[in-house]
Amino acid sequence: MKVLLLGSGGREHAIAQKISQSKRLTKLFIAPGNAGTSSLGENFELEIKDFNAIANSIAELGIDMCVIGPEDPLVNGLVDFLRESPLSKNTMLIGPAKSGAQLEGSKEFSKQFMQKHGIPTARYSSFTPSTMDEGKSFLKTMNAPYVLKASGLAAGKGVVIPETLEAAEKELEDMLGGKFGAAGNVVVIEEFMHGIECSVFVLTDGKDYKILPEAKDYKRIGDNDKGLNTGGMGAVSPVPFCDEAFMAKVRTRIVEPSIEGLSKDGLDYKGFLFIGLMNVGGEPFVVEYNCRMGDPETEVVMPRIESDIIDLFEALSRGKLNDAELVLSKKTAVTVVTVSEGYPGNYEKGKVIHGLNEISTGFVFHAGTAQKDGKTVTNGGRVLAFTHLGDSIQEAVAGSYAMIDKICYDGIYFRRDIGKDLI
Ligand code: AMP
Ligand code: GLY
Repeated sequence: MKVLLLGSGGREHAIAQKISQSKRLTKLFIAPGNAGTSSLGENFELEIKDFNAIANSIAELGIDMCVIGPEDPLVNGLVDFLRESPLSKNTMLIGPAKSGAQLEGSKEFSKQFMQKHGIPTARYSSFTPSTMDEGKSFLKTMNAPYVLKASGLAAGKGVVIPETLEAAEKELEDMLGGKFGAAGNVVVIEEFMHGIECSVFVLTDGKDYKILPEAKDYKRIGDNDKGLNTGGMGAVSPVPFCDEAFMAKVRTRIVEPSIEGLSKDGLDYKGFLFIGLMNVGGEPFVVEYNCRMGDPETEVVMPRIESDIIDLFEALSRGKLNDAELVLSKKTAVTVVTVSEGYPGNYEKGKVIHGLNEISTGFVFHAGTAQKDGKTVTNGGRVLAFTHLGDSIQEAVAGSYAMIDKICYDGIYFRRDIGKDLI
């Protein structure tokens, strides 16, 4: 089986690592990939926005299966395009079509979907520039803090949580006035949920599903969840507060109605469904859906999957997911992300990374790296994710930090408290 994986982050490195273990694999291509994925397969330059170029590469390389990592191409209809192109119509595609990807591409759509299918989520209403006054009246019916979301894709920055009514009204004006461009043409206002967040990942062919390991992500830049939001500074799987009783509720109240909803509404979905959840006193509520895996959650989820992932992907693509077997490791996985000084604001690139060769345990997943003059250098805000497996959270946390001890680059920064709240 020849596989093409699209994307370039830590998520794609972790997926590539899992694919590379498959007995079914003959060759793996990653486009564009990063310095880490080049050791698992062949990286090649491809503009992910250029759907024609992707179809051409699929035909030229004889690709049997294409796995799509990031949300943008999914939301913009890459799967529909490849399915219709004579160059790629026989290729197995792992990722939802545009109709299914709306669950991430439009927050208004996803809230309507949840409401229609009775899936627990925060009370909400949505507004456009012509209904701004109604939006301000709606805000007055809510309690602080206020949650405002640009409905469209806004690179993870479209959610603002003002503390006062005045600030929320001003934010609504700014968002509807174009602060996030077209993504904010519709703004969802919803109730703030008080609880602990976790992420549940589901593999689905649109009718059957497999629940993958859940994870907890650490979003803020500073220890003890202080400071600015980032793409994610670390993750842990499994999550102790997602115990059997909680996961049973997640399955019956959220996963099953979500999958049934996809099929009832005729939404075309063969891929990963990432459900962001709030655990409110033991009861699960959906914060959001994403149509792809999370990053850095993938860096703890993939190492816990023991089954051959190509078998799972193939079954999913043929609509026979129920026939495939999912075996999971009981171990705990922890990942700690090292970033560039200044992130999530401005940062410099091109710093030489020392010590990679000294690491002999765990997995080093590259997020933002490049090769320059034979050296691995920093090439992004999030640089590397260090994953370790252990029999307990303590053991896995200690393993990840021991890996980081061997690494240095100019401006290295990482949180020191990943997983410690769960011990
Ligand atoms: P989203 O992009 O919808 O996941 O929102 C980004 C982050 O904002 C979430 O991960 C939560 O931390 C927070 N958030 C979003 N919606 C709510 C809500 N209704 N109540 C509390 N926090 C929320
Ligand atoms: N870690 C959150 C995300 O991938 O959206």
